[in-house]
Parts: sequence; C-alpha cells; structure tokens
Amino acid sequence: MCGIVGYIGNKSAVPILIDGLKRLEYRGYDSAGLAILENGSIMIEKTKGKVQELQELVEESSFSGTAGIAHTRWATHGEPNRKNAHPHLDCNSDIAIVHNGIIENYVALKKYLEDKGHVFKSDTDTEVIAHLIEDDYNGSLFETLAISLAKVEGTYGLAVISKKEPDKIFAARKGSPLIIGKGKKANYIASDVAAILRYTNEIIYLEDGEVAELTCEDISVKSEDNIHVRKKIQQISWSLAMIEKDGFEHFMLKEIHEQKTSLLNTLRGRLNYEEGTARLDGLIKYIEYLKKAQRIILTACGTSWHSALIGEYLIEELAGIPVEVEYASEFRYRSPIINQDDIVFVISQSGETADTLGALHETKRKGGIVLGICNVVGSTIARENNAGVYIHAGPEIGVASTKAFTSQVLVLTMIALMLGRMRNLPLERGREVVKALREIPDLVGEVLKKDEEIKKIADLLAGHNNALYLGRGYNFPVALEGALKLKEISYVHAEGYPAAEMKHGPIALIDTKMPVIVIATKDAIYEKIMSNIAEIKARQGIIVSIITRGDTKIKELSDNYFEVPSTPNFISPIINTIPLQLLAYYVAVKRGCHVDQPRNLAKSVTVE
Ligand code: F6R
Repeated sequence: MCGIVGYIGNKSAVPILIDGLKRLEYRGYDSAGLAILENGSIMIEKTKGKVQELQELVEESSFSGTAGIAHTRWATHGEPNRKNAHPHLDCNSDIAIVHNGIIENYVALKKYLEDKGHVFKSDTDTEVIAHLIEDDYNGSLFETLAISLAKVEGTYGLAVISKKEPDKIFAARKGSPLIIGKGKKANYIASDVAAILRYTNEIIYLEDGEVAELTCEDISVKSEDNIHVRKKIQQISWSLAMIEKDGFEHFMLKEIHEQKTSLLNTLRGRLNYEEGTARLDGLIKYIEYLKKAQRIILTACGTSWHSALIGEYLIEELAGIPVEVEYASEFRYRSPIINQDDIVFVISQSGETADTLGALHETKRKGGIVLGICNVVGSTIARENNAGVYIHAGPEIGVASTKAFTSQVLVLTMIALMLGRMRNLPLERGREVVKALREIPDLVGEVLKKDEEIKKIADLLAGHNNALYLGRGYNFPVALEGALKLKEISYVHAEGYPAAEMKHGPIALIDTKMPVIVIATKDAIYEKIMSNIAEIKARQGIIVSIITRGDTKIKELSDNYFEVPSTPNFISPIINTIPLQLLAYYVAVKRGCHVDQPRNLAKSVTVE
C-alpha cells in the first residue's frame, strides 16, 4: 500500500528519496511522485508509472535541493493517474503533502474549503489537507498541522513541506504507520523502515496524534494535546542485506528459501526439553490469564488467517482449549462476545493491517485481553496489544507471504504446547513435541533442496486457468493457503477445500482439464483422503499429490507427486506448505507474472 519517504540533510534529496521509494515498491503502488524544496520554491514531479519513470523525470529536471518528500500511491479515492498522484499542493503551491490513509470527512471539508475559494486539482481525499493547512496557517507549520489535523476524521501518515519554512520537514500520524529516522546531520521520515535502513537504524516510532518537526539536526515531537514529547530512539536490528535479493530472481523465492533459517530464528531460545514446553517471554505477564482461559479467539486476515486455522487444530489438540477463528474484518463489526476468561490473539505479519488493528481495538473496547503475534518489530499492532510474541522471520518483502506464514504456524505450535503443558499435556508428550519442533528447520531444508522437482510440476500446470487444492485435518488450511498463493501471484483461479467436501459440490468441476493438488501425507485420515483421490481419478481429473516419502499407493493414483519427509501430523502444515509456495512461484514465473508485486495487491493493507 502507499509508501512515504522524507529527507532533510546536507545532501541532494532526490537520490535518497528515489532509493527510498524503490525499497517501498514491494508494498504495491500505481503511481509515484516527489516534491523538493529548491531555491525557495517547491518543485514537483509525478508519474502514473513506476519509480524508475519518476527517476528518469527527475534526472531530466536535475533538482539539487536538500529537503523533500516522496510517495508511492495505491489508489483509494480517484483513479491512478498523474493528477491524483501525490504530492498534492495548496492553491499557491506553498505547501506540498504526501499522505497514506483515508480522510473520511473529506467531502465535507472539501465543500467547506471550496466555499472559501480554494481550488482543487485532484480527485483525492488527500488534497483537502494541503488546503486546510493553507487556510489555517499561522506562521508556524508545526502548530498549524495540529490545528488542521484536529478537523480531520480518518487515518493518516503524512509528510509535509512548505516553502515558507524551507529548513524543515514535517510529519504526522494517526492510524497509518510512520516512523522518523535519526541520521548524522540528516533526518528522515518513512512509512516503513526498509525505505531508510540504508541510512540509519535509529528509529523513532510516532504515536497516533503526534506531529513532528524535523531539521537537519533536530527532531521535535508534540502530542495530540500540543505537549512536547521526549521520544525514545530505538535501534533496529534488521540489516540492509536482509532487505536485498541476495542473488535470487525475486524476493519471494529468496524468502521461500530462507525458511530453514527463519524457522530456526523463530524457535531460538524458546524450547525447553527438560520441561517439555516452550517459553515465550512476551506472554509471561499474562500467564495467569492463559492458565485459566476458557476460550481462545484467533483473528487475522489472508495468509495470517490461514495460520490461525492451523492454530485452532493445534491448540485444541495439544491444550484442549476451545478455539474460534475469525476474519478480523468480520470480527470487528459483528458485536463479538468476549467473555472475561477469553483471550484474543491477533496475528499479523506487518502489524499494520487495518482490519486486524480494528479487531484489536474492538477487543480492547470490550475490556478483553488481546495478545499479538507479529513479525515487524515496533509495528502498530505490536505496540498496541497487551502483550505478544514476535515470530522473528526477518523482513518479508515479497507481497505474497511465505516465511512469515510458516513462522506464525510455528509460534502457534509453541503457544499450543505451552498452554497444553500448563494444563493436562503429559511431560512425555510435551518432550515429543519439543523434539519434533527442533527437527523442523532441517526437514524444511530437505524439502527446499528438491526445488527443481516442483519446477517441473509447475511447467505442466502453468497452462491451466483453474486449480483445486484439497486437504484434510491440519492440511485443510494448507490447501487454502496453497490456493491463495497460486491465485495472488499467477492469477490462476484456485480454490481450497476440505477434501471430503469435494463430493458436496466442487466435484462437478472435475474433468480432464482440472488440476487437483491434494495434500495427502500420511496421518490418521490417510485412507479417507485416498478415497477422495480415487473419486477425482474416476472423473479423469489431473492429480498432483504431496505425499509422504515412500508412499506407493497415492503415487500410483497421481499424475504427478512430490515427496516430503515423514512427520507427526501437527508438524505437517509447515512442511507441506513449502512445495505449494514453490509451485505457486514457478507457475507465476512461467506465466510471466510480476511475482513480487502482483497486480492490485499491497504488502500491508492499511485501509479497510
Ligand atoms: C497473502 C498475504 C495477505 C496477508 C494479509 C494479512 O500472501 O500476504 O493475505 O496475509 O493481508 O497481512 P498481515 O499478516 O500483515 O496482517
């Protein structure tokens, strides 16, 4: 979704802003632009196209100003074109603004400003803020920003420059992520740490309602109540290498291949064999609540929601606590009942998903306890929950979530184990689980080595426009996740189903042109899934199966198969997801799709 970069320092701003925008491209966008303070004027360049085109435009203009703001836009209000691309200006081109989020009362504000004579040039909600500031300006943009933003309803992360105050850049945040980077004789604004990590790892997280004024040397922040706030500078441990492709053709492929390491990092220091349990320090404050929890609600969106579905199986099996899984977007709007002994977990890679954040707020509003499972350290969900666990998967740049998913499932397995051991799970069983968890990174490594086999299967599937994914038990959510990966990056229509549900409807789709990907590794319901495969075979469907190594029965029924190592069933979702991620990736590459930036998608969905 939209990205923001701002810079003030003693170097030319353009290369820094362009570099920052390029590092935000992964978030998804449809137009880009920047504004530079140049010899007492504000110079603007915008394009409907890619950051590369913006770069070519600014190279022609040869701006040399040392302060500026830049933006990649993912259209919400107004179609993606040059006119609607940010930055937006006030009537006199004194003020330029870039904005992430949505101004909900922009229609009323626009009318109010037009009645006062302001002339609008775009169809965006954002432009009202530029005119509002122009209207309210009292000689100090720092003060005026607070005055103007008090009139705004909705969400914003924004950066502003003014030719009347050319030695400063400004930032403000409410409900949309925004950080400030502290450099040497330079300061930065960004919607995502990736944009500025090359220049600094000293970060200030703005809170909702805060407004900031940055010069080359100083950063001042005021709260919503207009009080100066001393902000803590936090060191980010992510390195530049972690957000680069490292020789892989795409971030997605790199991130799939990182899973041996990312899963190791998720586990690091958290398992205790002696006691047959997991230790999750982030949850310690809430241990007493977790011990007596009568129900657990897991809520999330998209791929994270699929991890929650697996979490339901895990927690119910290992801890015996009833679990409900909810789409965060539904949960927040349907008056959910949250009892005193319930615990709500919100799961989010980015920690910025608006719907998931909404579910968090709804839980808190109802007096419930909300625990987070996040990847991005310092993200909004990570800061606003009561307590939480980081998955430590490292930065995920590819829009399609891969390594974050397997780490989410791993954290949920550890939570299930910990809860189980606090209740009735016997020590010996706990130790078996710990032992199995420790083996995961190596098992994942084994699967990844057979990447070429998946490539061959992908070559056969790439010409098809539909696919079904089937699984049972723990592997039903894996089927959903496999289907989502395929549709989002290769635009092939795919559906995931519990295998037994097929005969209740989807079986009508089976013919000689329908590939059916069946996750059929050996577990308690292996025989049942074999019958489901036989039903597809009888109707000449194309069967691609994920099977346990050495399984000859399903191999014989399959047109293509991929073997994975034998694992206990509660580990199988992590192992079985890997070939499906690779399959989606290679099908997308074969179809010539833009893997890391699929059409219409954004990495963190910060609007409802
Ligand atoms: C799919 C994908 C999305 C996200 C969803 C939630 O590959 O990435 O479905 O899982 O938008 O995002 P987070 O986990 O950041 O809340």
